[in-house]
Amino acid sequence: MAERTNAVGIGIIGAGYISTKYLENCTGRFDNLKVVGIADLMMERAEEQAQGFGVEALSVDQLLAHPDIEIVVNLTIPAAHGQVALQVVNAGKSVYNEKPLAATREEAQAILARAAEQGVLVGSAPDTFLGSGFQTARALLDRGAIGSPVAVTGMLLLRGHERWHPNPDFYYQPGGGPLFDMGPYYLAALMSLLGPVERVAATASASYQTRTIASGPRAGETVPVETPTHVISVLDFANGVRCSLTTTFDVYDTNHSTLVLYGSEGTIRLPDPNTFGGPVEILRAGSDQWESVDLLAGYTDNSRGLGVSDMAQALRHGRAPRASGELGYHIVDVMHAALESNDQERHISIESSFERPVALGAVQVAGGQG
Ligand SMILES: NC(=O)c1ccc[n+]([C@@H]2O[C@H](COP(=O)([O-])OP(=O)(O)OC[C@H]3O[C@@H](n4cnc5c(N)ncnc54)[C@H](O)[C@@H]3O)[C@@H](O)[C@H]2O)c1
Repeated sequence: MAERTNAVGIGIIGAGYISTKYLENCTGRFDNLKVVGIADLMMERAEEQAQGFGVEALSVDQLLAHPDIEIVVNLTIPAAHGQVALQVVNAGKSVYNEKPLAATREEAQAILARAAEQGVLVGSAPDTFLGSGFQTARALLDRGAIGSPVAVTGMLLLRGHERWHPNPDFYYQPGGGPLFDMGPYYLAALMSLLGPVERVAATASASYQTRTIASGPRAGETVPVETPTHVISVLDFANGVRCSLTTTFDVYDTNHSTLVLYGSEGTIRLPDPNTFGGPVEILRAGSDQWESVDLLAGYTDNSRGLGVSDMAQALRHGRAPRASGELGYHIVDVMHAALESNDQERHISIESSFERPVALGAVQVAGGQG
């Protein structure tokens, strides 16, 4: 591969499960990124990943002090996102967190405030809404193909990640659960289409008090459930759209994701927002036939890191990243409001907001366009 002369230097903190896909994509696919090194509290994990991808294994302190690293990709567990991101911005580097941006509103606010002081950028997964599937849906919506948006129904139905993840503890701790773990995909996708949410109501519960790990060295071990695992939220978007969203780790289903956007002139079946591709289908008013929509050019396979690539471009062009920290914070705000609504048995108003990200359309992120 040619030397990436104008590429943005990347450091990764967190060498766990998801780091492999980031390393694959950030070393091999997005040519505006150059992965310099990777760190983890468990040095042997960093060393193994570093060796596999030809990058340096560093301590967290070495990574934060490295002069060639401009963006740190924070792939630690959700409970550590806030503290690690603050370390990064305090070191004068931009940070891109895996979702959620932080476990608490206070941590998320602190990251954004400190980053503004330091003049660095904050980005946050999910970046799946930058894939062809949701960019196609957005183009349909923006050109009025279903008239004015009216309502959304969404469902994320899973029996829990302990069926495949070797260390699923964090999914059942505060900051985990189906809302905080999978909700961000649904919320980011819907917010990129519809803008901010202004009010939330929800009911939340946990059907099981423990979970049993099904794979890996800890198979058979149980982990305690300390956060709701079945959350039904009602989201009032500021543009008037009303959304019901069920996120659960408590049920068996094979069609685990459905997300549908209804408008005054038709309906769009949206893709699974944990993916970058389609299908996208439309039902036009007066017809009883669903039409399959050709996807815009762009990203259809697992393109995790696309948001980092967009953020690197944002850094070079002096603009905001599309998968922005403000969007990440709005998502955290809405998710906490859902749990508070359940606890307090009332609607919760949302204070935060964000700039709706500019559509990506057919523009190739790594191709140098702003
Ligand atoms: N597993 C998935 O399929 C998946 C998919 C999308 C997003 N994510 C998100 O990615 C993040 C990581 O998930 P994962 O499945 O890779 O978890 P993981 O437990 O496999 O890996 C996390 C790593 O972070 C390290 N770590 C924790 N705290 C640290 C700290 N303070 N400093 C340095 N290293 C620290 C741990 O030692 C571990 O190696 C989570 O936020 C998760 O929500 C995971």
